[in-house]
Amino acid sequence: MKWYSLALLAAPSQAALRFGCSTLSIQRLDPLVEPGRIPSAHVHQIVGGNTFNATMSGDLGEQGTCTTCTFTEDFSNYWTAVMYFKHTNGSYKRVQIMENDALPAGINGGMTVYYTQQDFNSNGNQKITAFKPGFRMTVGSPTTDSLSAAKGHVGLRFVCLDTKSTRFPELPDFPTKKCKRGIMTVHHFPSCWDGKNLDSPDHQSHMYNTAKEAFSPAGPCPSSHPIRMPQVAYETLWDTTPFDNMWPADGSNPFVLSFGDNKGYGTHADYVFGWKGDSLQRAMDSSCMFQACENGKPLKSQTPAQMNKCSVKTLVNEPTDGWLKELPGMNM
Ligand SMILES: *[C@@H]1O[C@H](CO)[C@@H](O)[C@H](O)[C@H]1NC(C)=O
Ligand SMILES: *[C@@H]1O[C@H](CO)[C@@H](O)[C@H](O)[C@H]1NC(C)=O
Repeated sequence: MKWYSLALLAAPSQAALRFGCSTLSIQRLDPLVEPGRIPSAHVHQIVGGNTFNATMSGDLGEQGTCTTCTFTEDFSNYWTAVMYFKHTNGSYKRVQIMENDALPAGINGGMTVYYTQQDFNSNGNQKITAFKPGFRMTVGSPTTDSLSAAKGHVGLRFVCLDTKSTRFPELPDFPTKKCKRGIMTVHHFPSCWDGKNLDSPDHQSHMYNTAKEAFSPAGPCPSSHPIRMPQVAYETLWDTTPFDNMWPADGSNPFVLSFGDNKGYGTHADYVFGWKGDSLQRAMDSSCMFQACENGKPLKSQTPAQMNKCSVKTLVNEPTDGWLKELPGMNM
């Protein structure tokens, strides 16, 4: 028996984090792609730490005082575009975000965030190196405008929800039929790092993706980007059901992303690292899975009510909700 427990001790870790973050803010800010610009080009939903601002720098883990995420040492920010419904009369209404079934009840909107090993199948077969303070990256681009390019963005997908737990099939663009329970957007980031740059001019070339789809097995990191970082992914569930009786008569997809994209080819997401100290590295070196990582084993955590209390000031004074004549920032 002894050799067996030693073998377990020597085995690499298998940590996988999956946690909820409630909505921190919905406004036109983008400190990564358009730092300092108030307002930025289009509306985002943002979750995470309260150091979120039009411009962000330094070690966010040392600056934050609250977070909308489950783990209280995670002051990172995670954001994506938001979804609007376009009525045949030309007006827009923001699609509300709903909670993931897999999470504790009571989380206000937001998204589900994953930090996994290379993939679920090869858990623990290599060292995962946590991001460093100042690290940031994006995936996808609002300027992507073809289906073939969207298919090439293997980590960026839409799921037509029959129930809140539907996960397949994953589509490269918006579902074209009514989805019974809503639409889920999925954003997987690349996880191989060049080992040098915390960011790059396009916010992407310091990273390299080896995953093929969803959480499927990822190939080894190339020599240009040799360091395996956590596989970060977001899931956001959009409640399209209030619009079921307002679909256009011709059956065409009435949903658009906040930059006016009704195909979904330009779906994208942003990440700014902000875990305090070595907390993320400790988590990735442990062998906890999902909610078992909470309550100090090894990560400090909080309740949905505490998560929902964290917020930031809205710097852009404009409505993003209710019936709008145009998408904020898209007057054309
Ligand atoms: C956000 O940034 C502005 C300058 O752009 C600054 O005046 C403000 O204090 C910052 N807010 C917080 C909460 O740090
Ligand atoms: C479009 O329809 C919605 C829903 O009935 C309504 O609230 C909105 O005011 C309408 N917009 C215009 C411009 O008529």
